[in-house]
Amino acid sequence: MSERTAIYPGSFDPVTFGHLDILKRGLRVFDHIIVAVLNNSRKDPLFSVEERVALLKKATEGLGSVTVDSFDGLLMDYVHKKNVKVVLRGLRAISDFEYELQIASINKNLNPEIETCFMMTSNRYSFLSSSMVKEVAKYGGSVHGLVPEIVEKSIQEKFAEQYHHS
Ligand code: PNS
Repeated sequence: MSERTAIYPGSFDPVTFGHLDILKRGLRVFDHIIVAVLNNSRKDPLFSVEERVALLKKATEGLGSVTVDSFDGLLMDYVHKKNVKVVLRGLRAISDFEYELQIASINKNLNPEIETCFMMTSNRYSFLSSSMVKEVAKYGGSVHGLVPEIVEKSIQEKFAEQYHHS
């Protein structure tokens, strides 16, 4: 099979325009990309894994050959199970480098057959992160232009819901 597939893993809590930028550009290099949402209960996410997958599905509609999935446990086990050889990750600033080098090195140790491919995030999104988006939205700030409209709406609803229950 000559089709080139990559797995783009992450927490995606929630998906931002930075993630979509990596995906769009990744699709110039890969024929198909599987977005893999980590089902990590330790991180205490704002959105459940089902909600994150649903938001990603909406946000990637019409983008091209993208599927959205979720995984538990080790990324290398998931990648192996999917029979994929490349992991795609975005790099924003130097600050990302150390963390990414650590993940890529541990993963290389777990499975030397799998390569991690990095793409530089476009400058306009180099400051953008899901945690910043959550912080701004939590205190009522606008996240317009940082996340797709569907995410903007969902995040507002989420905080309204939390406020209601507290
Ligand atoms: O969006 P994130 O939170 O920076 O993504 C991190 C992710 C999901 C790529 C990483 O935490 C991961 O792959 N976790 C799964 C567990 C694992 O494989 N750990 C070993 C390498 S750190």
